[in-house]
Amino acid sequence: MKVSVIGAGNVGATCAEVMAHHELVKEIVLLDIKENFAEGKALDIWETSAINMYDTRINGSTNDYSRTANSEVVVITSGLPRKPGMSRDDLISTNAKIVKSVTEQVVRHSPNSIIIIVSNPLDVMTYCAYINSKFPSKRVFGMAGILDTGRYKAFLAEELNVSPKDIQAVLMGGHGDTMVPLPRYTTIGGIPVTELISEDKLNAIIDRTKKGGGEIVNLLGTSAWYAPGSAAAQMVEAIVRDQKRVFPVCAWLNGEYGLKDIFLGVPVILGKNGIEKIIELKLNDEETKLLKESAKAVKEVMNVLDNLKD
Ligand code: NAI
Ligand code: 2OP
Repeated sequence: MKVSVIGAGNVGATCAEVMAHHELVKEIVLLDIKENFAEGKALDIWETSAINMYDTRINGSTNDYSRTANSEVVVITSGLPRKPGMSRDDLISTNAKIVKSVTEQVVRHSPNSIIIIVSNPLDVMTYCAYINSKFPSKRVFGMAGILDTGRYKAFLAEELNVSPKDIQAVLMGGHGDTMVPLPRYTTIGGIPVTELISEDKLNAIIDRTKKGGGEIVNLLGTSAWYAPGSAAAQMVEAIVRDQKRVFPVCAWLNGEYGLKDIFLGVPVILGKNGIEKIIELKLNDEETKLLKESAKAVKEVMNVLDNLKD
């Protein structure tokens, strides 16, 4: 089984390294447009195989998509990351051109693949890959919710002094400041989070989660990669091992939650066919209002993409 990662930068290389370390597949191809860059990253990762004890082969390529041919899953991370002061939406025109051209190559060489988008602005780049691939929507979706809930769980674990392993949470909406964490569906070892933390502290954690991407950009001068790379690898694992995991994923909605023709974060079941089911939670009025606001913000950026000239 083969998985390809397009973009051998911070997120792509981390994703490849995590997948290799966990021996998710026989072969990983890392591809980048920058001469020799993917080859160098792939070689460095491969040289950890005898240390970290795995035998997944990892190969690098400078823009030669024939090397990615017949991949089961392709993770697209190519594109510019955010710099301080930039929103994810500022990246749209540059990254849309990159994601479109990459998607066309992926479709040509891996026509039966499942595509996971990571490039930002996430919801809209997923839409860009979807319209350019013409794949069914269950085979094109975006990574954001696992990262955002990962941050939310990490902050809760720190505040409550509990293991992050025992925290279950779901978060919906776009990958941006309008994302919608759902405290009503957050539990610590089965105990509702609201029984363990004050409302003020929980609200502060929700606020920090929404701005979690920006927090890292301000610290590093570029965006995060360890958590995003691991999150994308976890989605690949659910697919190649047909795990039927329940994750928040940026998925195409066709009437679910009263929303249509939009990519938005919702809980799904992920398995060998990609998105096997979108789970519809019974949201209360406040949650529905927040989700609709988030959908409106995403739709505005989708419209920017629709109006971009080639
Ligand atoms: P990076 O700059 O380290 O890596 C991007 C790589 O893409 C570079 O190596 C570049 O040469 C390559 N590239 C550019 N155009 C290409 C093309 N046409 N074909 C192949 N490769 C190409 O950036 P980083 O930090 O890895 O971030 C990648 C993207 O992921 C950014 O758009 C960033 O905003 C996004 N991101 C999304 C997250 C999410 O939660 N969805 C989280 C973190 C980052
Ligand atoms: C993140 O949330 C910038 O989307 C990127 O870290």
